[in-house]
Amino acid sequence: MKNDFSRRQFLQSSAVAAGGLLAANTILLDADPLGAQTKPVAPSDRVRFGMIGIGMQGSGLLTNAITLPGVECVGAADLYDGRHTLAREITNNPSLPASRRYHDLLDRKDIDCIVAAVPDHWHKRVVVDACNAGKDIYCEKPMSHTIPDGFAMVEAAQRNNRIVQIGSQRVSSNLAAKAREMYHNGAIGDIEMVELTLGRNDPTGAWEYPPPFDLSPQTLDWDTWLNDAPKIPFNKYHFARWRCWKEYGTGVAGDLMVHLLSGMLYTLDWNEAPRSAQALGGIFRFNDGRNMPDFHVVLFDYHGVPVYVRLDLGCESEELARFMGPKGILDAGEFQLRHQFQPGIDLAPSYYSSGFPQKMREEYVAEWHAKNDPPLGKEPMYPTTVYAGHDWDDVKPHLWNFFQAVKSRKPVVEDAVFGNHAAIGCHMANEAYFRKKTVYWDEASKNIRS
Ligand SMILES: NC(=O)c1ccc[n+]([C@@H]2O[C@H](COP(=O)([O-])OP(=O)(O)OC[C@H]3O[C@@H](n4cnc5c(N)ncnc54)[C@H](O)[C@@H]3O)[C@@H](O)[C@H]2O)c1
Repeated sequence: MKNDFSRRQFLQSSAVAAGGLLAANTILLDADPLGAQTKPVAPSDRVRFGMIGIGMQGSGLLTNAITLPGVECVGAADLYDGRHTLAREITNNPSLPASRRYHDLLDRKDIDCIVAAVPDHWHKRVVVDACNAGKDIYCEKPMSHTIPDGFAMVEAAQRNNRIVQIGSQRVSSNLAAKAREMYHNGAIGDIEMVELTLGRNDPTGAWEYPPPFDLSPQTLDWDTWLNDAPKIPFNKYHFARWRCWKEYGTGVAGDLMVHLLSGMLYTLDWNEAPRSAQALGGIFRFNDGRNMPDFHVVLFDYHGVPVYVRLDLGCESEELARFMGPKGILDAGEFQLRHQFQPGIDLAPSYYSSGFPQKMREEYVAEWHAKNDPPLGKEPMYPTTVYAGHDWDDVKPHLWNFFQAVKSRKPVVEDAVFGNHAAIGCHMANEAYFRKKTVYWDEASKNIRS
């Protein structure tokens, strides 16, 4: 049926082909996410912060924070002495005060705020202590290690009127801002479903990190490091690879999913816990003594919207947040957003007409073309648009938002309430996996039930 191929359809398929081949509709977002905001700052207007935890992530936060105008690191704390040396190296300040006790920083009157990158099982204590000491705090994600931890942190932030910002940095990226703007301008219509996926395939990606050579009970305060976790003898692997064990970490959910959930909550302007979660998974590849899954698939219900998540440490796939609606698809990744518009209409006579006798079919097809073919020269185009942006994993814009808020006292987006909601999703994903049951959020008791 040659004439079934309408002009509508022809133009649509050639636009898609052109988009795919030529990437014709690529739009560059602002290359510098901080733009003109970073002006020189008077010495009296500087923000002075103390750094707690100078490990893998803390070293990156410190390196970036000290490049921001008007921001100064004036002290550091870590339970492992090697990281005092590292903090002094990063700040290029051999006399930077550094100790094992973070309370030394909280006690100092000349410190405005704290940046903390300690393992998950330490987040609550550091945030609550900082708030009670009158310090604002940027704390790494996932905000909490347990459900009660999260609510204690929200309470401490609110009671002390402190700025608490949680570290899922993509919330401050220009890509997330663009995704949010596009969604709210109707780019895909009302959200129908979200798919969040990420895969890695290497030991480092699965947290099998090499412990520092000189780590010992002499160079590390091991008993304090354990915090409320069961007391076990010094173990350098637990120190370096704490993500593998639920006693310290929050699994692939808290390590990776929390970023995807935070980006989704921000894009869609949701600020809530999921209603329910179902999960499958297991330790499929990295059976190295860990008790957290290396493969975790979750299906959430967010007020009726299904959110599917796949996190895999045994097969690499790009990190992608896919937002789907009746007007198309918005794919958000680390460096770009891709918007595919869908007109949501028939582009050709219905193939159901192949079940019509010939005369009827011809009549139907002719009528369809007469009714639906656009006038020549007025054919609609449905292009795919790509927005190329700055790396959404760059911590600098997020740190900048925090330090600005410390000065302005204006609330931050990813505050304790937002961070708690994202973390609750992670805890529900883990509970559904360990209980092998659908779990539900119970707002009355502020807890998870099966
Ligand atoms: N936002 C991101 O992209 C991102 C990336 C990686 C890690 N993180 C988060 O950052 C946090 C730290 O992760 P990491 O990989 O840097 O861990 P890490 O083990 O490399 O470093 C943590 C450091 O905290 C120190 N520490 C622990 N308890 C302490 C205490 N009570 N006082 C002082 N120091 C203490 C440890 O000695 C260690 O040096 C985690 O919450 C993690 O989820 C975030």
